Amino acid sequence: MEEGSGGLRCEVDGEIATITLTRPDKRNAQTSAMWSAMARFGETLPESVRVVVIEGEGPSFSAGLDLGAFSGETGATFATAAKTGDAELEQVIGEFQRGFLWLRSPQFVSIAAVQGHAIGAGFQLALACDLRVVADDVKFCMKEPALGLVPDLTGTKPLVDIVGVPRAIEICLTARTVGADEAARLGLAELVVPREELGQAVRDLAAALLSTDRDAARATKRLLQQAPGRTLEEQAAAERAEQAVRIKALFAPR
Ligand code: CAA
Repeated sequence: MEEGSGGLRCEVDGEIATITLTRPDKRNAQTSAMWSAMARFGETLPESVRVVVIEGEGPSFSAGLDLGAFSGETGATFATAAKTGDAELEQVIGEFQRGFLWLRSPQFVSIAAVQGHAIGAGFQLALACDLRVVADDVKFCMKEPALGLVPDLTGTKPLVDIVGVPRAIEICLTARTVGADEAARLGLAELVVPREELGQAVRDLAAALLSTDRDAARATKRLLQQAPGRTLEEQAAAERAEQAVRIKALFAPR
C-alpha cells in the first residue's frame, strides 16, 4: 500500500509502515495538508502494522511549520481564523493535532529517524513518536516561543515526560539548539549513530521490535504508557489484568 500526498509518502510493507517527508529542497517544512494526510494514514492503518517509522529526505528531518503559512493564501486562512471565536480556532488546531496523536497507539511502536534540523513542528513530530533514533548531526530546536507561538502539535507533554519541567522550560524558552550528545544524555534520543548509518539503525531496531510476540508487545506498551499516571497498587492490578489475558491466550485449552 502506498499513498502520496504533497510533501509526504506513506507506505505499508507487511508489519512496517513508513511515512517519509519528501520536501528536501524545503527542508521538509510541514503544511496542514501534510498533517491531514498523516491523520488519514494513521486512522486507516492495517491492524497488522507493528512499527511505524517517520523519516525525512535530505539534509534535515524537518525545518518545522512551512513559514509560507504566515503569508500568501495560508496566511490569509490564519488571519481569517484569528478573527473567529476561540472555540473555532481551537477546533482548527485540534485537526492539526490529529496528525500527531495517533502515533502513540499501543498497536505499534513509532520511531522517528532524525537527521539534521528538527525545528518547531519538526521537533514535535519527533517527540510524537515513541522512540527517536538520531544522526550525530541532529539539531533539535523548539523555536515557537521565538516566533510568538507555543508548541501546540502535542510536543510539550512528551518533552516534559522525557526531560522534566525545568529543562523543558530552559530548552523552549531559550529556543536553543540541542545536539546529539545532549539529546542522548537527556533521553531525547534512544540511539545516536553516524549520519550514513541512520537508515540501517532504524531497520535493525524495527527488526528487534518485531521479534517479540505481537499481542504481548501491545499489552506491555499499554502497561508502560499508563504507569506514570497510576499508583504502584493500580499498576500491579493492571499487570494482573493484562497477564490474565495473556495466560488464557497461551494456555487455555482450545
Ligand atoms: N518553511 C518554508 N521554507 C523553508 C523552511 C520553513 N520552515 N525552512 C527552510 N525552508 C526553505 C528555505 O526557504 C530554502 O528555500 P529556497 O531554496 O527556495 O530559498 C530551502 O528551504 C533551504 O533552506 P536553507 O537554505 O535555509 O537551508 P539550510 O540547510 O542552510 O538551513 C534551516 C536550514 C536552519 C532549517 C533554515 O532553513 C531555517 O532556519 N529555516 C526556518 C526554520 C523555522 O523557523 N521553522 C519554524 C519553526 S516554528 C514551528 O514549526 C511552528 C509550530 O509548530 C506551531
